[in-house]
Amino acid sequence: MSDNPAAPLRVALLGCGVVGTSVARLLTASAEDLAARVGRPLAIVGVAVRRLGRDRSETGLPAELFTTDAMDLVTRADIVIEVVGGIEPARSLILRAMEHGAAVVTANKALLAEDGPTLYAAAQRHGVDLYYEAAVAGAIPLLRPLRDSLAGDDVSQVLGIVNGTTNYVLDKMTTTGAGFAEAVQQAQALGYAEADPTADVEGFDAAAKAAILASLAFHTRVSSKDVHREGITEVTAADVAAAEAMGCVVKLLAICERAVDAAGVEGVSVRVHPAMVPRRHPLAGVGDAFNAVFVQAKAAGQLMFYGPGAGGDPTASAVLGDLVAVARHRVGGGLGARESAYADLPVLPMGESRTRYYVSLDVEDRPGVLAQIASVFAGHGVSIQQVRQECAGDGGPCSAQLVLVTHQARDADLSATVDDLIESDSVRGVLSVMRVEGE
Ligand code: HSE
Repeated sequence: MSDNPAAPLRVALLGCGVVGTSVARLLTASAEDLAARVGRPLAIVGVAVRRLGRDRSETGLPAELFTTDAMDLVTRADIVIEVVGGIEPARSLILRAMEHGAAVVTANKALLAEDGPTLYAAAQRHGVDLYYEAAVAGAIPLLRPLRDSLAGDDVSQVLGIVNGTTNYVLDKMTTTGAGFAEAVQQAQALGYAEADPTADVEGFDAAAKAAILASLAFHTRVSSKDVHREGITEVTAADVAAAEAMGCVVKLLAICERAVDAAGVEGVSVRVHPAMVPRRHPLAGVGDAFNAVFVQAKAAGQLMFYGPGAGGDPTASAVLGDLVAVARHRVGGGLGARESAYADLPVLPMGESRTRYYVSLDVEDRPGVLAQIASVFAGHGVSIQQVRQECAGDGGPCSAQLVLVTHQARDADLSATVDDLIESDSVRGVLSVMRVEGE
């Protein structure tokens, strides 16, 4: 960094896709205001791209700023913005940038969730900032509230919708009765879902975000491989209709909570899965591709964060907020928060998590069936809260659908119950099992 107090801070941008283009355009358009807020101008000294020669006039930047030599570019900057995504070469570029004394702003959830501690250690070693608000929930200020504003409180739960694509798909299934495949096609047509929607619909994107949220909330290292993950590919129109009949909607939730296992060990439970959410819960009303996250903290109580969780400009808003923060540190001195992992809580296995369950069964309608089924639940210590039966026949032995909702139960106990139900003479088929959250 130049000693001249009027010299611009040199900003390198790695990646010029949807988010990178928005960052470049907004940074250029707001240059005077950003300079006033930081106390020094910010100058883009280069944009690393995979291929030259594309029309990038939308960025408002001259062609000579574009380069394919990202490894060189990161050594010529005071601040590096990484919006390439993926593990490599993003990790090597970030580490090299830090070695050369640059602060880093990144939106890379996959890298942070897989190898965040390596990045934090490098930031610490080289005395530079690492900011990543855009990695989770797009424009919504969520990570800095957890990292800074709530650093004096004890967070017990972070619960929310952190993937816009799957929220759009489930919302369409709920409001139009569409099946999963049809709703995904609609999401692709509108540009929400990628041509290969695996990362979103299988829950990988949400699991990476859950790992980042849990790490910050609980001062504990949680990586994506610690997160129990179930996507929405097996959610059917029948599940959505069953939720409707229960006064619920189906949402893909990221759930991070302090928990105690059956042996009394205190730890954290971090999971991503579809769940029925009662219509009266505020998360049930989060439609389209929006994100919303509840945070429960001891002194603060319940907080809700809501807004656009994806898209070029919304994500660029979070990137530019981080850019201003780290630039202010460059100008005024000091650094933002370091990694805080002192609590070092164990991540409990999924079997230890506790929630309510909806179970729908195809059963024979004859005396004693309900008693037999109830005894299977009781045998695993799972308490039934509600039972409803719908008989399809008109007298005589017929098939009936039995819907049961449990009180809170251990996941392992519920799984064992379902295994036994599948074997039971009284049960023709287990039609659907879904967790019920948000009570
Ligand atoms: N694909 C993500 C979503 C946005 O649908 O929410 C980027 O994290």
